[in-house]
Amino acid sequence: MPRETRFRGATVVGTGSCVPDRVLTNADFERMVDTSDEWIVSRTGIRQRHVVEPGQASCDLALVAAQRALEMAGLTALDLDQIIVATLTPDHLLPSAACTLQDLLGAKNAWAFDLNAACSGFVYGVPVGTSLIATGQADTVLVVGVETLSSVTDYQDRATCVLFGDGAGAVVLRPCDAGQGVLATRLGCDGSQRAMLEIPAGGSRLPASHATVDARDHYVKMKGNELFKFAVRSMESVARQALADAGAELADLKFLIPHQANLRIINAIADRLEVKPEQLVVNIDRYGNTSSASIPISLDELVRGGRAKPGDLIEMVAFGGGVTWGAVLMKWDPTRAHPLPARGAAAGAGQPAPAAPVGTGAGGAA
Ligand code: ACO
Repeated sequence: MPRETRFRGATVVGTGSCVPDRVLTNADFERMVDTSDEWIVSRTGIRQRHVVEPGQASCDLALVAAQRALEMAGLTALDLDQIIVATLTPDHLLPSAACTLQDLLGAKNAWAFDLNAACSGFVYGVPVGTSLIATGQADTVLVVGVETLSSVTDYQDRATCVLFGDGAGAVVLRPCDAGQGVLATRLGCDGSQRAMLEIPAGGSRLPASHATVDARDHYVKMKGNELFKFAVRSMESVARQALADAGAELADLKFLIPHQANLRIINAIADRLEVKPEQLVVNIDRYGNTSSASIPISLDELVRGGRAKPGDLIEMVAFGGGVTWGAVLMKWDPTRAHPLPARGAAAGAGQPAPAAPVGTGAGGAA
């Protein structure tokens, strides 16, 4: 059956997330570096973060998150046309995490690629998936945000090591009528500011060597203060732009999901946008900064916790290394998805996705 083409809408029909079992508390960091629970909580809002065990990698977390999203959508991996993995910590430089995930899932009908926009990766991935659906190049798209930031964190650097956690979140996108589902997306980038956040070695500019390892240049280096100011400015402005594009007002928002980098950044944005506490989604206390995974994990918790109701307007807004920023405004209503075209998929696929939560949301890597 030929695909419908030309400017369809796209809607989220399933969400899933996964964090590893192992937890590092602030007390653990008090034993590792010169820091305190009081400093970490008051400066960042973080109380604990989940990190992988040796041998676990991003795709192990991405697999569970993706399976949960597909299960909620009533779809199987064979229904997927496209897999986009937003990550700065793929299992390998080659192959991409998306290719590994395609194999682990058994998504034989999907083409797959990685996208690196650091912490903005998920809000970059959703517009790409939406565009593929809108132009008829794909019907069923999996967008995953996943990181094992513990693999690039310097546990001797107190300024960064307390911030980061590991995790994965995923959504499945399906076509819907224009004007439903994803309503507006806005993305930005300023590469001239890329030195604010970088991993100096391991790429083609400074290939891995004994010297780069000795210099600890394979770990994240961050200008935290500069990023802080940039984050507040860019997220406020892009959140307003996406709302304006859709002709919506801040008061129409049921939920604002900001990237979970620092509670003070989140609160500063909420103040500037005059978002009420009940509109604001915060879980940084439990997960730390999981980069591209932070927004899809938060969305999954909203959905599975039964807080997001069909028709709710949700805005997701992020900033990250690059530097990058972006916002996605969407109406949560999986029942708006068009039926799946017949393609030998599993029984039950193509039915409207259940809005009711399935499973326990974030938690428990394979
Ligand atoms: N424990 C105790 N003291 C610390 C710690 C720590 N863990 N880390 C830093 N300090 C000290 C500093 O050494 C400094 O001491 P000094 O005054 O004697 O020099 C003091 O605390 C203040 O340091 P600042 O860097 O000014 O602290 P700030 O309040 O800015 O908080 C932080 C630092 C949390 C990093 C903040 O700047 C921030 O959150 N920035 C944004 C980071 C971010 O959002 N990154 C997102 C991108 S991540 C990604 O893309 C993967």
